[in-house]
Amino acid sequence: MADLEKEINRRRTFAIISHPDAGKTTLTEKLLLYGGAINLAGSVKGKATARHAVSDWMEIEKERGISVTSSVLQFEYDGFCINILDTPGHQDFSEDTYRTLMAADSAVMVIDGAKGVEPQTRKLFKVCGMRGIPIFTFINKMDRDANETLDLLDEIEKELGIETCPINWPIGSGKNFKGVYDRQKKHIVIYSDTQKGTKEGTATVIDYNDDKAVIEAIGEAAKAKLDEDMELFDIAGAEFDIEKVRGGKLTPVFFGSALTNFGVEIFLQNFLEMTTTPLPRKTETGIVDPVKEPFSAFVFKIQANMNKAHRDRLAFMRICSGHFDATKEVRHVQGNKTMRLLQPQQLMADDRKILEEAYAGDVIGVFDPGIFSIGDTVCDPKLDVKYEGIPTFAPEHFARVRQVDTMKRKQFVKGINQIAQEGAIQIFQEIASGMEEIIVGVVGVLQFEVLKYRLTNEYNVEIRMEPLPYEHIRWIKNYEGMDVSKISGTSDMKKIQDLKGRPLLIFVNAWSVGMTLERNPGLELSEFGSAM
Ligand code: G4P
Repeated sequence: MADLEKEINRRRTFAIISHPDAGKTTLTEKLLLYGGAINLAGSVKGKATARHAVSDWMEIEKERGISVTSSVLQFEYDGFCINILDTPGHQDFSEDTYRTLMAADSAVMVIDGAKGVEPQTRKLFKVCGMRGIPIFTFINKMDRDANETLDLLDEIEKELGIETCPINWPIGSGKNFKGVYDRQKKHIVIYSDTQKGTKEGTATVIDYNDDKAVIEAIGEAAKAKLDEDMELFDIAGAEFDIEKVRGGKLTPVFFGSALTNFGVEIFLQNFLEMTTTPLPRKTETGIVDPVKEPFSAFVFKIQANMNKAHRDRLAFMRICSGHFDATKEVRHVQGNKTMRLLQPQQLMADDRKILEEAYAGDVIGVFDPGIFSIGDTVCDPKLDVKYEGIPTFAPEHFARVRQVDTMKRKQFVKGINQIAQEGAIQIFQEIASGMEEIIVGVVGVLQFEVLKYRLTNEYNVEIRMEPLPYEHIRWIKNYEGMDVSKISGTSDMKKIQDLKGRPLLIFVNAWSVGMTLERNPGLELSEFGSAM
């Protein structure tokens, strides 16, 4: 038992979120270098490496040179066992990106110091905020001219509505970026230039009270600027409060340059101390303690068609409690069946490794013969739990979809329903139109291509897609007992329903949402659908 506790408590499971190009891939690679997983560093799927990746996954991946799927990178550092959940970004941004955040215990938000908060950061942040998980900020690219530090902090507070507490403070930026000032330890860390892709290079620590040495290292002007910044910050800034961090109310902020490896290790060390061990999870009947309970996990992602020849699916599960032993039977709660999980594996970039055991905090992929759905619970047969489901996230692109050959209606409906069930797309219909008109909603436009490709290749159905101009969707929270036809909306609003017959509203313009709320007192709208 003691070992189990030790194994679980040394785990840290987090996702890195960022707007494309802020430096998520570069930072991930550097973190892996510290974990000694050097051979892996080059295989993190970034734009550059993916071009050469040999993958047996969907053709679409190969054609586009991008990864539609995500993986988990596990490495050891200083006694910790770290799981980084890779969130698909760029063009392959999809609902899976959001769902991955459901499996993380904390998030690291990477921000480009010259760009500040960008749209995709905002969206991902909102999903983290919904769960109240701790969020750590790494302000990257300080080796390029960056915005004023105080302005960056102010922007995060105003735009994202979270308090900030800088753990360190940058000394200069661009060509003059020398290193960082550690506010708690009251010393500065000066970096010498490092080679790209290595962790070599020196970091010199100087006591900030040693004026002479500080001036020698950073110059008088930089010291004066730092003193002034600190004075201003001490008046206006938030105090560090670990409870607020744990509740997602305050974000510790770090500065650095992932590319030149300035400030990455300080970040990692502080982050590991401040972030949480695997968090207890809510079930329908209470909270499950990761250490005290036997094995339990929930499915947060289903990846279909990993191998075209076998039409196989992998279900990704986040282990929430106990120890997973591949030789033991587990119960699939929703299917009410006891079984052995098939081919449990860990996905590391391009590699798959068969697992014999794993612990709470880890993520495993298992072979799915088509029985799992997103949100399902799998647990020790002795345990009687059912995890709270995963919400449905707002699609931002919509298209009307029809099959080209009317004779293939049956295959079309079957295919599109199955793909929706896996959570790759959402399907809707116009209210009272029957199943004739199907509207597909996706979070990232690439999902349209995936849909088209899969319907052609797996179901032998050609489709035609007509893009629709809607970008904003709202679930009606209090629709029960309501006459939806009476909702008076704007001219750019359309009423639709999901497969369960729940009504939704879609809008072309964001401001129409507010207008509709104003016109219909008592109407409650939500950006997240209830659990799947
Ligand atoms: P992403 O995963 O968030 O999309 O970003 P990624 O790490 O791929 O970084 C995007 C670009 O920014 C890359 O340049 C990368 O080298 C650069 N970059 C990342 N961190 C830093 C940093 O700390 N300082 C500076 N100056 N640049 C940084 P690229 O030219 O698009 O790709 P590459 O040819 O360098 O691979």
